[in-house]
Amino acid sequence: MSGTAAKPTITMIDNTDGKRIDLPMMDGTVGPRVMDIRKLYGETGHFTYDPGFTSTASCESKITYIDGDAGVLLYRGYPIEDLAEHSDFMEVCYLLLKGDLPNATQKATFERDITLHTMIHEQLTRFYQGFRRDAHPMAVCCGVVGALSAFYHDSLNINDPHQRMVASYRLIAKLPTIAAMAYKYSVGQPFMYPKNELNYAENFLHMTFGVPCEEYKINKTVARALDRLFILHADHEQNASTSTVRLAGSSGANPFACIAAGIATLWGPAHGGANEAVLQMLQEIGSKDRIPEFIRKVKDKSEGVRLMGFGHRVYKNFDPRAKVIRKAAHDVLSELGVHNEPLLEIAMELERIALQDDYFVQRKLYPNVDFYSGIIYRAMGFPTSMFTALFAVARTVGWIAQWNEMIEDPAQKIGRPRQLYTGHAARAFVPLAARG
Ligand code: CMC
Repeated sequence: MSGTAAKPTITMIDNTDGKRIDLPMMDGTVGPRVMDIRKLYGETGHFTYDPGFTSTASCESKITYIDGDAGVLLYRGYPIEDLAEHSDFMEVCYLLLKGDLPNATQKATFERDITLHTMIHEQLTRFYQGFRRDAHPMAVCCGVVGALSAFYHDSLNINDPHQRMVASYRLIAKLPTIAAMAYKYSVGQPFMYPKNELNYAENFLHMTFGVPCEEYKINKTVARALDRLFILHADHEQNASTSTVRLAGSSGANPFACIAAGIATLWGPAHGGANEAVLQMLQEIGSKDRIPEFIRKVKDKSEGVRLMGFGHRVYKNFDPRAKVIRKAAHDVLSELGVHNEPLLEIAMELERIALQDDYFVQRKLYPNVDFYSGIIYRAMGFPTSMFTALFAVARTVGWIAQWNEMIEDPAQKIGRPRQLYTGHAARAFVPLAARG
């Protein structure tokens, strides 16, 4: 045998003039082949059209892999179920950020480094007074995280790998502090400083539910469940908020500004805001006997009602995270002594009915990560308005890992999509007096 196999290409033919172009195909480790269309415009003068990016890979990445048809989610190659069962959030942060699981020394050093950054600049605490008490925690988080760039000038140089890592650690460490303070401010209680002897989830519970006048007792079951929820939410490849972080970062914006942009995008009900919307939906349904009426409204579409916590752009099968959370919901509720939680019963019945209904079956709509998470958060004592902020705390590591990967990618360019223009062609200006 001699010679090398020809690189796979795909040929496109323009039927108007018969012009042909060979486009190279790219192979990932696993997953569908990707057509490299970078030279398409230069050689043909044509753009591709893909609103919502349903068929477009915006980057190369080594961090997270999803097989939506099989319901598979891997962080750096490790199945999400194994990580949720056997790992902890700090280890997962290390894995996402650095590429491999840490050994014992690396883990201890990483945890120590993160805890060194858990406090926020004291002057930042005064920012909170500028918000209304009834401000949504996501509005507060967005503002305060954006403001970090006004305080941490020594980690804004994106071309310095050390500064990038310091900014990454700061964001992972400070997000729980910032989110917990948003909660404290809304209920009029004093801010609780982080306690570095606690682990990440325990510390968040302490800062959220503790008060200075008595020692807050950590419930280990609740802390472990929260840690597991953080693992499940830590990354999800090129979703809307992560793509926002990458796009913002592609212009050279600083990491704090980019993560604030990610938080803003996560807030929408089609994305991370769905966990809050699910709880509101379950409360509005109110009882199992009203489910058929609700499903009718969803299918009717005229009222614009969606079954929140169902459906996903990538998963056309069970979201593997939803499976883990569904089981955790039962475990946590029974551990906390919450029996016959009516919202859990409505959720389970809603799921049962939807999974048998042609409308959902034909469209491959299954429960996603947000369907059951709110029920657990509620049982832990979080108000509904904090649910998406909890998602943001967990996703910060994914955003910042993806941001770092983008900055280090030699193929990285400013993100600049094109458009199909359907407005007026050039026309003559009409002076005001001459307009009818
Ligand atoms: N309830 C009712 N119908 C739905 C739903 C739903 N939740 N989701 C999709 N559909 C229908 C939709 O109307 C469309 O029907 P048709 O073919 O008749 O026009 C079809 O299913 C395809 O939907 P789509 O909107 O084109 O799908 P998409 O990939 O653009 O949207 C989604 C994905 C997640 C935005 C959507 O499924 C949705 O709005 N779900 C509810 C919100 C939600 O739970 N979001 C959390 C997503 S997972 C966590 C995260 O990303 O943060």
